[in-house]
Amino acid sequence: MTNVEAIDPTTCPAWESLIDICAQSSTTTIRDLFALNPDRPADFTLEAAGIYADFSRQRVSQQALDGLLRLAEQTRVLALRDDMFEGGLINTTEGRAVLHTALRAPVEQSIVVDGKNVIGEVHQVLKRMGAFSDAVRSGSWTGATGKRITDVVNIGIGGSDLGPVMTYRAMQEYRDRSITCHFISNVDPSDAGEILLNLNPETTLFIVASKTFSTLETMTNAAFGRNWLVSALGDDAVAKHFVAVSTNAEAVAKFGIDVENMFGFWDWVGGRYSLESAIGLSTMVAIGRNNFHDLIQGFRAMDEHFKTTPLAQNLPILVGLLAIWNRNFLELPTTAVLPYSQLLSRFPAYLQQLTMESNGKGVRRDGTKVTYDTGAIFWGEPGTNGQHSFYQMLHQGTGDVACDVIVVAQNAQGNEDQQDILVANALAQASVLAFGRTVEEVVADGTGPELVAHKVMPGNRPTTVLMMQKLDPFTLGALVALYEHSVFVQGAVWGINSFDQWGVELGKKVALGILSDLRSKTSKDSQLDPASVADIDKYLSLKESK
Ligand code: F6P
Repeated sequence: MTNVEAIDPTTCPAWESLIDICAQSSTTTIRDLFALNPDRPADFTLEAAGIYADFSRQRVSQQALDGLLRLAEQTRVLALRDDMFEGGLINTTEGRAVLHTALRAPVEQSIVVDGKNVIGEVHQVLKRMGAFSDAVRSGSWTGATGKRITDVVNIGIGGSDLGPVMTYRAMQEYRDRSITCHFISNVDPSDAGEILLNLNPETTLFIVASKTFSTLETMTNAAFGRNWLVSALGDDAVAKHFVAVSTNAEAVAKFGIDVENMFGFWDWVGGRYSLESAIGLSTMVAIGRNNFHDLIQGFRAMDEHFKTTPLAQNLPILVGLLAIWNRNFLELPTTAVLPYSQLLSRFPAYLQQLTMESNGKGVRRDGTKVTYDTGAIFWGEPGTNGQHSFYQMLHQGTGDVACDVIVVAQNAQGNEDQQDILVANALAQASVLAFGRTVEEVVADGTGPELVAHKVMPGNRPTTVLMMQKLDPFTLGALVALYEHSVFVQGAVWGINSFDQWGVELGKKVALGILSDLRSKTSKDSQLDPASVADIDKYLSLKESK
């Protein structure tokens, strides 16, 4: 177990003083903060690993920021960080190390888990992935009938899907266009059914991605894919059309996949922290081993920054502490993630698992109940599309939302004017979210009295702008690592375990019980609550009715 005890942050002197600071500045707006210090853009910006962050539109004073930095010290965030990097068992409820950072460590580094240096194995797997992806991309790996692979289907869910699909969409400009990746995740038969409808078994390769190789959805979809393939090409074709990514060799072999074609990882890689492990095999096939290497370099650059930079200049520390400020002191329950890049269309969904499965917890590492809010709800859509959907509420709704606006400067499409239109919108939204529009300004615009109240924009929405030159593999790696570490910082301050997910287990168990009722077409033997029994009966009758 880790030696870093889970501290109740509300017992820290810094927490008390932050409550006072917050109360004293409760009527201070972002406009006021800029009036007091017009140099905020210089004082509240930072750059690391190719990611520029502008926090000046956050509703936070220097005094509050100093208090947050003290809170990080008093809750021993850096001690837990060091323990994580060194392989301490900080996933206390599962007795596991948390070492996704080892996936991007240089080969000469040594990180020992259970008496063994794990870095050698990490690089061995990367090498095997490289050889395999080279073979698929060059056409030397063919399907059972000798045809080259044109379609790769990743079957996985949660971290075994969201990271790969987000990365694939983000890295479109780096991928080999002769191979298309598809992602089957939902156990809804429409997902696999619709995707396979347009594919040719002879040229399709399945990657079954599951850390445990026991997840119901993935195993069900893998069986669906296997039947589809076998009914066209026969049993012997499986070896050339199925590979696996897992920590569970026994289950892989039982499924009928040759363990020679299995790419392993380790229990110290959490599913939502696994996109650069073997779980990224579809990514490597799509973008090639060199681009995958650059992706890992981006992760590593942010890891190094997080590990070595003093608190006040440390980007993940600041992102994490501002999230604490917004959640616990400004009491904002949600954060909207607004990437102004269509290529990042799945980034909010990816972040939802990363943030909410990590920090949606109500007890500290020692099992004591928290008395303060923990993880915020993360959600979002790419701009500009979101502007024509939910931004109305962001601007004038009664609830206050923190926003992360993500801006990419260069677009490989080369249409500069169109890119300027996109970025003008991003920066306009950041400005309006933070500064709004006062009654005086609305009146000065010539608005008639009957519409003034409708056009006033309260602003004051805490907004961070993250900007990068281009969305290349390196920068994407750095961006993901930034959020990973900021999630860590929040969990460390709250004293919770960001690396387990017990809350998802009960639903899985109950589903199996209901499934057995559905299969036997009865709810009579069920131990379930009356509402579920009634719904089972209704479902069975709807299903049977003509
Ligand atoms: O149910 C939650 C979860 O365990 C996630 O944490 C994980 O990413 C996902 O399921 C998939 O798990 P596996 O890779 O073992 O199939």
